[in-house]
Amino acid sequence: MQKRILTILCFLSIACCVLAQKTPQHTDAIDGKVDALLAKMTLDEKIGQLNQYTSDRLATGPLTENSSKFQDIKDGKLGSMLNVKGAKETRMVQELAMQSRLKIPLLFGLDIIHGYRVTFPVPLAEAASWDMQAIQTSARVAGKEAAAAGLHWTFAPMVDITRDPRWGRVMEGAGEDPYLASLIAVARVKGFQGNGLGSLDAIMACVKHFAAYGAAIGGRDYNAVDISDRTLWETYLPPFKAALDAGAATFMNSFNELNGIPATGNSYLQRDILKGKWNYKGFVVSDWGSVGEMVQHGYARNSKQAAELAITAGSDMDMESHAYINNLAQLVKENKVPVALIDDAVKRILRKKFEMGLFDDPYRFSNEEREKKELNSPENRTAAREVAKKSIVLLKNDKQLLPLSKNLKTIAVIGPLVKSNIDMMGFWSIKWEGDHLVSLYEGLENKVGKNTRLLYAQGCDVTDTSKSNFAQAVATAMQADVVILAIGEHYDMTGEAKSRANIHVPGVQEDLVKAIKATGKPVVVLTMSGRPMIFNWTADNADAILQTWWLGSEAGNAIADVLFGDYNPAGKLPISFPRSEGQIPVYYNYKSTGRPSTNDMGINYRSGYNDMQNSPRYAFGYGLSYTQFALTDLKLDRTTLTANDKLNISCTLKNTGNYAGEEVVQLYLRDEFASVTRPVKELKGFEKVYLKAGESKIINFVIDKETLSFYDQKMNWATEPGTFQLMIGNSSDHILLKSKFELIK
Ligand code: NOJ
Repeated sequence: MQKRILTILCFLSIACCVLAQKTPQHTDAIDGKVDALLAKMTLDEKIGQLNQYTSDRLATGPLTENSSKFQDIKDGKLGSMLNVKGAKETRMVQELAMQSRLKIPLLFGLDIIHGYRVTFPVPLAEAASWDMQAIQTSARVAGKEAAAAGLHWTFAPMVDITRDPRWGRVMEGAGEDPYLASLIAVARVKGFQGNGLGSLDAIMACVKHFAAYGAAIGGRDYNAVDISDRTLWETYLPPFKAALDAGAATFMNSFNELNGIPATGNSYLQRDILKGKWNYKGFVVSDWGSVGEMVQHGYARNSKQAAELAITAGSDMDMESHAYINNLAQLVKENKVPVALIDDAVKRILRKKFEMGLFDDPYRFSNEEREKKELNSPENRTAAREVAKKSIVLLKNDKQLLPLSKNLKTIAVIGPLVKSNIDMMGFWSIKWEGDHLVSLYEGLENKVGKNTRLLYAQGCDVTDTSKSNFAQAVATAMQADVVILAIGEHYDMTGEAKSRANIHVPGVQEDLVKAIKATGKPVVVLTMSGRPMIFNWTADNADAILQTWWLGSEAGNAIADVLFGDYNPAGKLPISFPRSEGQIPVYYNYKSTGRPSTNDMGINYRSGYNDMQNSPRYAFGYGLSYTQFALTDLKLDRTTLTANDKLNISCTLKNTGNYAGEEVVQLYLRDEFASVTRPVKELKGFEKVYLKAGESKIINFVIDKETLSFYDQKMNWATEPGTFQLMIGNSSDHILLKSKFELIK
């Protein structure tokens, strides 16, 4: 009984909050239509709107129950279907919905994570571009293609911060930093949603996974999350809030429990924060089966109670648990779930269907002609190649080995990933019959002239333990002027449920690097993966290294552009690359402790490990260029300010090298003392700048109250007087300009 009262109170407070904050006019028009429709609906039809099934053609999770899906659609028992795609197929399924009593259109959703027909780099790779326009373009192309193929909704962007590269889903996010990830979240939402819901080329974004899924203990997928409220607010929530402010249409909750309460049944997350404090008007879809999984979590007695807990906590749509469709009517009958709670969820969903224009024309996105024209167009492929180039990070370039000359006589291309194209697509890519994917080898063939010979040897497979083919690879290398060696992971080694305890480059691939290096030939290593891998020997001994991730349809062309200098790499790591699994989590915005290590080795009575360097192998923000840049002339227009003042900062960036190129100038702050300890460094601004050789530019940053605020002891977002260190550099571990300023009352 007490629980019921709580539920009702909770719902009433939400309803009041919603009423108090009604906004635009067209919203009022839609509200009227939603209310009129709702008034015609039976309880079963309402519950149907909260139900989502996968199509039978594709399962992106464990199937929970067989049901007569098509009959359910005709009976008005389904609000949305995932894993249907294509103008023809979506039309066919929508036709079934048009046979239902109220003809409420279905929403079609799909995981369009990094491209629909044309595959873009995996999101972590795109994050390395630090290029918001490029990232937005990637999502825009995906949105346009998907909208032309009958889709309404992508389950992206995934905005989970992670500090753990063992976690398989690290490839799907934007890395370790809340500031960078927030900007990226905004770019992706804007890209998917284009000119707004209702445009023919816009699809709904779904910000996921709410919340803190990336903090899974030990990096094991689906694992429990146990973090402080402070960490939740400081590190994990900012990208969600940024995405919401950018207009994200929908949210997805997450598989994990947060401090003992599964996210799907978590009222604090969904009611108090998302729909309460943040006043979110869209709907929340559960993750696949996550309503039902609350039973395995040990939070619900059975599927029926799971449904009660989930709807009460604010999960509006049930993906594939069948828990709502099977139990909500009974729960209403038993007065355990008020109809008002169901009405609120239904209204949120119907509103999106109206906003998408589906009541005007349920088939408006299912247009085969448009589909043919939009998908895989030359422009879309060009966009993919552009973004792919920008995602590549130059980790090492001894003696300026790169860029390679286009006049080389013989190039040996060695390694298990040289001719692979499926791996270039990365996890969460959509597979297409007869697709054209550009492998590394093909990209090189496209690039080099007739006078350059390409030799190939595989050397070993990705996970091989045998070195039996090394001799042939060595013999191939011996004939060449330079060796390009591609090592890394298969596409299905990093992704959902692909966590790994060992993130070293798999198999004997690093031994292959050793064998090839022993030939004395110059060696360029390409590391291809969806996550930071560990490759210490290669890092110490290869002549040049490019982190090329999984770059998508145009991977080979993009890599060739960079290898031969048609594009000067400018990517910067969005996540730290560790030296050893033992130092995970390793991230740049850590806390000082009372005994910070004074050098890179933990020494007695100092924080850190004694048996290894404590810094990451490659730090957050790191990445080289073929040219060199100088940062000088740091100027602050004041060194004391009040919270109402703005601090204007400038510095000069000069391209002092021989190539045109881009640099990402990064601004970090350290709040030296506060009522709550602050990280040793926090990214607060950056600018990506293109300069021709010899050219200079003045870079400006502004620091204001917002930049200096943090959650104080009472968790209020506030400023406190005190001194701040200002650091500007080209990586979190390469600060070139420093100053200090003071915030006064
Ligand atoms: C489970 C994943 O966690 C989620 O991200 C995805 O959108 C759904 N499956 C649907 O495929």
